[in-house]
Amino acid sequence: MGNFRTMLLPLLFVLLCAVAGGRGEAVAPGGWTPIPNIQAPHVTEIANFALVEYDKRNGANLKLEKVIRGETQVVAGTNYRLVLATKEGSSSATKNYEAVVWEKPWEHFKNLTSFEAVQG
Ligand SMILES: *[C@@H]1O[C@H](CO)[C@@H](O)[C@H](O)[C@H]1NC(C)=O
Repeated sequence: MGNFRTMLLPLLFVLLCAVAGGRGEAVAPGGWTPIPNIQAPHVTEIANFALVEYDKRNGANLKLEKVIRGETQVVAGTNYRLVLATKEGSSSATKNYEAVVWEKPWEHFKNLTSFEAVQG
């Protein structure tokens, strides 16, 4: 009996560590992770989706200059929070916006859930 306990406790400890360790590798729920490769085609696709959607909803004509930075969050799909440098129509002035796009790739679903002017 005593022997069983001394075996079981370390085993439980190892199991708990494995579970905790596995979680540690994944993204913390609600946490935002910087996108390492901001030039990835899929990031550009998300950015263009955000601008086309914003233009459509607001009768604007914002064009993507470049993605400045971005983060993702895992939420039944992925939230992309991107800072975009844009130009309005033929104007040469650059204006930055922070766009949040929610994507569920397996449903080919994307939605622009937030779009705000930002500094820098
Ligand atoms: C997309 O996001 C907007 C803003 O959050 C929301 O009003 C709208 O219902 C969403 N559309 C879909 C199809 O989920």
